[in-house]
Amino acid sequence: MSVSAVSEISKDTNSWNVKRKNAKRVYAEVEDYYGKKLKKSEDVKIVNCSVKAGTACTKLIKEALSSVHPEVSSRYYGCGLTIPTKLSGKKVLDLGSGSGRDCYAISKLVGETGQVIGVDMTESQLSLARSYIDYHMKEYGYKTPNISFVKGYLENLTDAGLKEDFFDVIVSNCTVCLSPDKRKLLTEAYKVLKFGGEMYFSDLYADKVVPETLHDNAEMWGEGMTSALVWTDFYKIAKEVGFTQPCLVSISPLPICDKKYREALEDIHYVSATYRMFKLPTDEEKLNFTYKGTVPENEDQLLFDHRTVFKCHEKKCNDFKMAAILKNSRYSEDFDFEDCSNLDEHEAVCYKPVNPFEYLAQLKSENRMPSPPPCSKRK
Ligand SMILES: C[S@@+](CC[C@H](N)C(=O)[O-])C[C@H]1O[C@@H](n2cnc3c(N)ncnc32)[C@H](O)[C@@H]1O
Repeated sequence: MSVSAVSEISKDTNSWNVKRKNAKRVYAEVEDYYGKKLKKSEDVKIVNCSVKAGTACTKLIKEALSSVHPEVSSRYYGCGLTIPTKLSGKKVLDLGSGSGRDCYAISKLVGETGQVIGVDMTESQLSLARSYIDYHMKEYGYKTPNISFVKGYLENLTDAGLKEDFFDVIVSNCTVCLSPDKRKLLTEAYKVLKFGGEMYFSDLYADKVVPETLHDNAEMWGEGMTSALVWTDFYKIAKEVGFTQPCLVSISPLPICDKKYREALEDIHYVSATYRMFKLPTDEEKLNFTYKGTVPENEDQLLFDHRTVFKCHEKKCNDFKMAAILKNSRYSEDFDFEDCSNLDEHEAVCYKPVNPFEYLAQLKSENRMPSPPPCSKRK
């Protein structure tokens, strides 16, 4: 693996909070943190990431998660539920797969004809994940493994041997934030996704830029505090890379549990959020669409994101951007589409980016606030 390709942070990062040290040093510190310092989920010091599964945790997903070997699960360091619907037979890539908890759950959900690849740079995480391949294959009754773990940097996925235009879905759990170059990471993710493919991932976001004076603290970077993107920068980068506008699926407030760091971070706030975004061809047809009720476990309605629900047999009109997502993605067979190109442009539904912090405040005012993860280590 060569680190030279990302030895410098992208030049045009403007307000992002990643202008600090070089990538080599970030890699070494993050690897040391997840490879040596942390031994189990409870060791996470600053943020307690045991966020409850979000709204989309169906029975099949729960079963898949509970089928994972306890040692693998005991080293889960994620911050959300990164398992979307409709994975059967799909090719899924996990960025920063760690001990492999999400990979193994997804390995069960994609079935023997599907494929799961986890990528991580930390050898000890990879070897733990690999040591449970046989166990899970037996558990799931597969004749041949549908899963593998690859060593590599997320900013150089093609160098790690991953094929371009290959994956149906990319997931990632609490890892994008750790990257020294988020733009490069998302560009690589876009490259290896098929057209119509989806990136569905949970991560930490800040409401303001973290002062550079805090950037050299390896623990704060390793736990995502100083490395998290400001949410507006995330939207900006996703758009520049070519993804559709990120759709907010679920969100949780993220209290800083460590008093020392809470004081250092002053009035910076964090959320853990799960987003979905797609790689689409550029042509956009004008289509209305109707959900057929065919996604397993979502027969009455399909929850797409925090504000979008498709009720079975209910026609949705003038939402051309959503129609493009549905028509080009793995959901295309679950919808009937109808051409409506005779409609005027101004009638199209337009989605504004959602400020996750305002959305949380709104939930709070309506008494619908999701529980924050417990601050078991509050000092
Ligand atoms: C917070 S842990 C999450 C692991 C796993 N997703 C989970 O939920 O348990 C982050 C993982 O990403 C890996 N990682 C972080 N930055 C990386 C990078 N730039 N390239 C490859 N792996 C990286 C670390 O080695 C670590 O295993």
